[in-house]
Amino acid sequence: MKVLVTGGAGFIGSHVTKQLLDQGHEVVVYDNLSRGFKELVDPRAKFVLGSLSEKDKLIASLKNADAVIHMAAFITVPESVQKPSLYWENNVTGTKILLEAMREAKVKKIIFSSSATVYGDPDKLPLTEESTVKKAVNPYGQTKIEMENLIKKEFEKSNLSAVLLRYFNPYGPNERHNPETHVVPNFIKAALSHKPIPLYWKGEQTRDFIYVEDLAAAHIAVLPLEGFQIFNVGTGTGTKVIRLVEEIFKLVGHKVSVADLGKREGDVSALYTSADKIQQEVGWQAKTSLEEGLRKTIDFYKNPIK
Ligand SMILES: NC(=O)c1ccc[n+]([C@@H]2O[C@H](COP(=O)([O-])OP(=O)(O)OC[C@H]3O[C@@H](n4cnc5c(N)ncnc54)[C@H](O)[C@@H]3O)[C@@H](O)[C@H]2O)c1
Repeated sequence: MKVLVTGGAGFIGSHVTKQLLDQGHEVVVYDNLSRGFKELVDPRAKFVLGSLSEKDKLIASLKNADAVIHMAAFITVPESVQKPSLYWENNVTGTKILLEAMREAKVKKIIFSSSATVYGDPDKLPLTEESTVKKAVNPYGQTKIEMENLIKKEFEKSNLSAVLLRYFNPYGPNERHNPETHVVPNFIKAALSHKPIPLYWKGEQTRDFIYVEDLAAAHIAVLPLEGFQIFNVGTGTGTKVIRLVEEIFKLVGHKVSVADLGKREGDVSALYTSADKIQQEVGWQAKTSLEEGLRKTIDFYKNPIK
């Protein structure tokens, strides 16, 4: 298939691009490098420096494409609180323009990077695809809900096939967000540079940490699907954040102090998913243990420019 990957110069997009190419697909990476890195783009892919706001460039780049994997977005929650209209413009308006361009270029399939954030603070765990989508607690989450709604509406009014992948907590090599708000890279970087681990809630929160290469494989697994589908993508297991700290100490071979940052407003105490639906429907499941995933991630941060 010919696949256009928006945001393919980012953390998760770089892995999706590589796996598509490894499996013989043709890939166009479409990214404005606002938050991504050209060196993360596999040289086998065609790279287009372009923004979601540039409809004509999108239409030209979509020529003869069979599908779009739409990962381009701004993703930093605190920044979205400070600049909600920037997030709305980039993520929601950008997705609207992409859907218009796809209609004009007659591209009939989209796989969308959504997030567990759409479930807010869950009433019941594990989450399933039937769990209620709640009013988002921050503007980033609200953009993800709106982007999902736009794609669903497009499916309803045209013959677009759409898969919404709601990721849980991805981690792994190539994560170079700035600022970094995610625990795995922040903990590893602190441990490697012998600085205190920044820990909220004494590490008692539970999350579903999904290794990025497993997550990327889910995109390829759902690529043949038709119609409108939603899948949660996680391991199916909740892990306390404090366990990450213990594993990282074990793997780096030394301990550092922990900076107790107390409570943080807006954090959900536990979030993990059932992984049954995606396994039953396309045979995908996470394969990488937390220990193996953390080991590969630590190797990346020891030698980040590859
Ligand atoms: N990383 C996570 O923890 C996580 C969790 C759930 C969902 N997601 C979603 O997965 C997707 C990828 O996340 P990531 O962690 O790889 O982020 P990232 O910031 O590493 O990558 C996003 C990429 O999109 C590009 N981009 C942003 N706006 C663009 C625009 N208007 N036009 C063209 N390119 C643009 C950036 O340059 C960057 O390369 C996002 O949609 C995000 O919301 C991420």
